[in-house]
Amino acid sequence: MITLEKIVSLAKRRGIIYPGSDIYGGLANTYDYGPVGVEILRNIKNVWWKFFVQGMDNIVGLDASIISHQKIWEASGHTSGFADAMVDCKNCRSRFRADHLIENQKEDLKVEGLTVEKLSDLIKKFHVKCPNCKKEEWTAVRKFNLLFPVNLGIVEGDKSLAYLRGETAQGIFINFKNIVDSTRVKLPFGIAQIGKSFRNEITLGNFIFRTIEFEQGEIEYFFDPKAENWEKVFEVWKKTMWSFVTKILSVDEKKLRWREHSQEERSFYSTRTEDLEYKFPFGFKELWGLAYRTDYDLKQHMEVSGVDLTIDDPNTGEKITPHVIEPAVGINRLLLMLLMDSYHEDGERVVLKLDPRLAAYKAAVFPLLANKPDLVKKARLIYDDLKEDLNVVWDDRGNIGKRYFAQDEIGTPYCITVDFQSLEDDTVTIRDRDTAKQERIKIGDLGNTLKSKLS
Ligand code: GAP
Repeated sequence: MITLEKIVSLAKRRGIIYPGSDIYGGLANTYDYGPVGVEILRNIKNVWWKFFVQGMDNIVGLDASIISHQKIWEASGHTSGFADAMVDCKNCRSRFRADHLIENQKEDLKVEGLTVEKLSDLIKKFHVKCPNCKKEEWTAVRKFNLLFPVNLGIVEGDKSLAYLRGETAQGIFINFKNIVDSTRVKLPFGIAQIGKSFRNEITLGNFIFRTIEFEQGEIEYFFDPKAENWEKVFEVWKKTMWSFVTKILSVDEKKLRWREHSQEERSFYSTRTEDLEYKFPFGFKELWGLAYRTDYDLKQHMEVSGVDLTIDDPNTGEKITPHVIEPAVGINRLLLMLLMDSYHEDGERVVLKLDPRLAAYKAAVFPLLANKPDLVKKARLIYDDLKEDLNVVWDDRGNIGKRYFAQDEIGTPYCITVDFQSLEDDTVTIRDRDTAKQERIKIGDLGNTLKSKLS
């Protein structure tokens, strides 16, 4: 059975994810991505970018700054509205998100967005106990803003206040005019961005599921609401997101479902939100949000900045304030899902059956014995040759069984071994991660064989 503990342990043991600030005892809700994790994360971002930006005619990319003007967040409503309800245990002083505390106890209840009074009532009604000390002694529930303020050194007084972005979306809205003026986009079109966002979150500690620093992949899809029916645009995006997760990331569709937000739960800017949820070991949870943000953000920025963010209708010359549908996903959450979804136990063996596109290394190359110079030399030539086109890894430590074991655990699809027969007939063995079967092939055919297997 897959448990979160198994994934956490595998992640640390194999250089995928480490606790943040580890040698100083850790820093809650922060994580560092190791040599294997960083490759998988990069592959996820690359397939996302290829699919949504390079693969679509009307979506362009952006990389806006993380440190951003305080006015952006006033205009967007985040300084006043972007807050979670929190509650403290009076006995052990642990702090929790009130909604998560209740949902943790009552699995199918969704209470996000309820007022602090209602949440306080529910905590009493269900006799929710502190997950830490098991007591039932709570403070009143109160709101806690999630934005991280930063003080800039170069300006005086109030003007020095800026924020680390709480979502990448705002960078897109404030660059809307720049992009319309400097590129050839025309409605409907999307602007996409991948980058870090920061939220001062209180979490239940489900590993990288919810952290204070995380990467988002967001698209703001702008359209003219008179020319297009938003419900239809919404449905198209639902299909597109579903097919990305099931076809490109090869995730088991039985573990996915859509869930619509109730009115209380919806963010302050949204008219409809649906979450694509994945069945994690801690329940069905949000993977990817899809929200109809209307013209809320562009209007807010027009009002606060005084800059015209309308776009001219090319046929009538009429001014349009575009509406927006927003698919927003957490890249780290995609990684957590992929680790869960690809984790298999096969007897003693743990195998990450990752899609080869996402695996950190496409193949590993081994000399059968590290102390035989002829084997090492031949394997090294193969490794150098393959490395020109593919991300391959070298391993000559321990015995061959241990090397297979290690590569299976990080999801390397193929292992190539140079043995004594290789010195005689220029062949190698190539072992398949999922079946553990080996075949012998000519070194000269290796590049093409691997390419066709990987595609
Ligand atoms: N611009 C809309 C927006 O940010 P969101 O639902 O707050 O919407 C979008 O975030 C996605 O970002 C979520 O579906 C989730 O995958 C990811 N995400 C949000 N908060 C996160 C956190 N604290 N840690 C990791 N991922 C997070």
